[in-house]
Amino acid sequence: MAVKRGIFVVAGYGNGTGTGSASAEVFAKAGYKVALIARGADHIEKGAKKIIQDGGEAKAFPLQAYDSASVHSVFESIKAHWPDEAIRVTLYNAAQGIWKPFLEITPEEWDTTANINLTTAAAFARESILSFKDLPLNELGKRGTLLFTGATASIRGNKTTSAFSAGKFALRSLSQSLSKEFGKQNIHVAHAVIDGAIITDMWKDRAPGKYEEWQQNLDGRLSPESIANSYLYLAHQDRSAWTWELDLRPAHENW
Ligand SMILES: NC(=O)c1ccc[n+]([C@@H]2O[C@H](COP(=O)([O-])OP(=O)(O)OC[C@H]3O[C@@H](n4cnc5c(N)ncnc54)[C@H](OP(=O)(O)O)[C@@H]3O)[C@@H](O)[C@H]2O)c1
Repeated sequence: MAVKRGIFVVAGYGNGTGTGSASAEVFAKAGYKVALIARGADHIEKGAKKIIQDGGEAKAFPLQAYDSASVHSVFESIKAHWPDEAIRVTLYNAAQGIWKPFLEITPEEWDTTANINLTTAAAFARESILSFKDLPLNELGKRGTLLFTGATASIRGNKTTSAFSAGKFALRSLSQSLSKEFGKQNIHVAHAVIDGAIITDMWKDRAPGKYEEWQQNLDGRLSPESIANSYLYLAHQDRSAWTWELDLRPAHENW
């Protein structure tokens, strides 16, 4: 009999060109039912349709904003939509990049970075852990896997990253504490330091020349699909050898 995988939840689906959408597709192909969370309803409706056309099962769960109440209500909707399935893997991929000199960062931008990288991430972690904690162990000896997408800024501050890096450091430390606290309950928490540029639409405007070059050459950038495959690998580690932190970079990254 085929293994019943359960539900994969991704928050921060994006516009369909990055890690969020690639992860949704990879987990759908691996047999998970996929819950897509983002602020842009159009992107996730389109994403769910594509997964269903490809033979998978997916549903869009749009939210107005990243905040604790919205995250709680989205998890309730996911459970109501698939009452006979367990949430087994969750990915917090949401972020908003703020790259500016420190004195130009507004109080609103500080609130945004604290909210998206810490407060809402913690709310997402809480809902994930509450969903996992009473589940029976699966065939890997785990109740669930909670994944976080980090960045170079998770471990290194730089000239224009005071806000972004402060947020990403906070996310990383949240993930480390949770992995220690909940490992003993067979809940696997992992953080990925994405140390390089992920080729997404965002780079068309940010680095037009580089974007064209990266499209041709895998040496200099990360592919969203390859990151997603690493997330699937983390989710499928058995309880005897768990990774808390993975770092991923392309072959020619100048670190
Ligand atoms: N791209 C890079 O070079 C890079 C490098 C290292 C680490 N990361 C990390 O990777 C994660 C994002 O993955 P990704 O870069 O591959 O992109 P992605 O999966 O497409 O996700 C994009 C993220 O940006 C948000 N967003 C804000 N404005 C947006 C817009 N106008 N269009 C699309 N998305 C927008 C999305 O929120 P909604 O889903 O609510 O729309 C989503 O959270 C983040 O945690 C980021 O810090 C990215």
